[in-house]
Amino acid sequence: MIRQIATQGDPVLSQIAREVTADELLSPEVQQVIDDMLATLRATTGVGLSAPQISESLRIVIVDKPMTVLVNPIVTPVGDVTDTSYEGCLSVPGMRGEVRRAQTVRVEYLDRTGKRVQATWTKFRAIVVQHEYDHLNGILYPERASFLFPDDTVHAPKIDPTIFRTGEGATGSRPTFVIVSPEPVSGKQFFAWQFHEAGRVVGIRVQPGGAIVAGVWLSGVRLRTAGIKAGALSKMLLGEHGLHVNAGDQLRVELRIAKGKRRIIAEADFDRQTAAAQEGAAE
Ligand code: NI
Repeated sequence: MIRQIATQGDPVLSQIAREVTADELLSPEVQQVIDDMLATLRATTGVGLSAPQISESLRIVIVDKPMTVLVNPIVTPVGDVTDTSYEGCLSVPGMRGEVRRAQTVRVEYLDRTGKRVQATWTKFRAIVVQHEYDHLNGILYPERASFLFPDDTVHAPKIDPTIFRTGEGATGSRPTFVIVSPEPVSGKQFFAWQFHEAGRVVGIRVQPGGAIVAGVWLSGVRLRTAGIKAGALSKMLLGEHGLHVNAGDQLRVELRIAKGKRRIIAEADFDRQTAAAQEGAAE
């Protein structure tokens, strides 16, 4: 049965869920809770679900791709490497937030038949299981987020960015990545940066030439839609703390350009030093 999902503010989401005993696990009641969790998650676009989210304060989570049921899980970070991602939660609709978590975790749990399982998960599944494990301890991701923003991904237009040549002008510890268009441009245009190392974008500055930033995406997730005029530093688009980027992330900027003269379109201040300091703090 598809169950209603509890949302932020519901007391069940801030409780510490209790363990499931061996006898309980095989009972029709707890097996039904597991079936309901699977049905409920499959009816959403989510990738994980915890029992408290369907108002059952039990230590059971499910993680998709492939769908895995974890009873009484213990999730332990392995090593010091962390990844930052933009998490959402079915219990916190309409929002996303930047969260840093261990890249690799050790998971120990019982499957739904009571068999003990140990495994090492990394990257996407590691992030999802850490998020779900937090639910069992009454923690929602906004408590761990460095900043939150509205998730209007569903309204984002399909975009096909043109990647122009990017230049790097180093000024001490703050290189500036510049987007240069090979041709004069006008109208609504997308530009993109691909990052080759992790760091923090502290602002986007648009070169004069009648350009306005209208939207910013990071690796397909829409962060903000707002207007900012040429010459200003668009910290407002990136949040107070700037934007953490991992190597391989792509930052896309939508510009509306009134005059088709300028070839240098925009630049991003990129702060490796801040990123390094934060890596250090996480150890
Ligand atoms: Ni969640």
